[in-house]
Amino acid sequence: MRLKDKVAIITGAGSGQGKAAAKIFAGQGARVVVAEMNEEAGRETAEEVTAAGGEAFFYKTDVSDEANVKALVEEVQNRFGSIDVLFNNAGIGFSARSRYKMASILETPLEDWNSILSINLNGAYLMSKHIIPVMIEQKRGSVINNSSLNGIIGVSGADAYTASKGGVVALTRVMAADYGKYNIRVNCICPGAINTPMIQEVLSDPEIAKNYEAGPLGRVGEPEEIAYAALFLASDEASYVTGLIMPVDGGWSTV
Ligand SMILES: NC(=O)c1ccc[n+]([C@@H]2O[C@H](COP(=O)([O-])OP(=O)(O)OC[C@H]3O[C@@H](n4cnc5c(N)ncnc54)[C@H](O)[C@@H]3O)[C@@H](O)[C@H]2O)c1
Repeated sequence: MRLKDKVAIITGAGSGQGKAAAKIFAGQGARVVVAEMNEEAGRETAEEVTAAGGEAFFYKTDVSDEANVKALVEEVQNRFGSIDVLFNNAGIGFSARSRYKMASILETPLEDWNSILSINLNGAYLMSKHIIPVMIEQKRGSVINNSSLNGIIGVSGADAYTASKGGVVALTRVMAADYGKYNIRVNCICPGAINTPMIQEVLSDPEIAKNYEAGPLGRVGEPEEIAYAALFLASDEASYVTGLIMPVDGGWSTV
């Protein structure tokens, strides 16, 4: 029960890493808020958590919409009276299904650039902007941002995504510096290639899959392997950890 009675908001918890985190956090005693844009997926996560004996509720949330984020925070405060953990996980990315063009800057339309940044970077900003004041009041909180390997090394071919994730890394550091005095910790995970719907389609291309499997552990990661890293950072076990930029990538970034 590493998160017993902690209120944890997880964005993008309808799928992949966020869904794995919702299940694992709830299994450790957290009261989980599934803040997800996709209504069907978000409801499904909350139902699965509840069916397994955990506590979760779904709130339809678009992290790029400030009014929606404010309404979410109000609802969570009314319901629970506190917010202990914020996992800024929602994102759009390098997917064959992406409606945005994932390309170098020369081929990226400004509209797509803005849309990608508005979710991946502005989303973390907006959620934090409205939740940090609650955490300041409580004098405690843990924020975990989900960036990417793209945030720390140059990976060609998805430049807006890469810029957004680099922004998330920088935002983590400055938030850690700003809010440590209120006992708020802010950390960041940089996943390597993770087997979720975001990249499953591109993984079906053997050439791409071979590249993703080129790290020391010789395989892509599973969403639970990110969720367990998030669990550590969310828990009191990480009480002296803040400003950490943590690759969870099977060693991919080291070779
Ligand atoms: N899968 C990978 O290989 C990989 C690698 C590095 C980083 N990441 C990052 O990990 C995070 C989770 O991705 P995933 O792999 O679980 O992908 P996923 O596509 O399975 O899940 C992402 C979820 O975010 C939700 N979402 C998208 N836009 C949203 C918005 N505006 N508001 C609220 N929810 C929104 C989607 O509906 C979806 O449920 C993302 O930030 C992604 O960029 C993924």
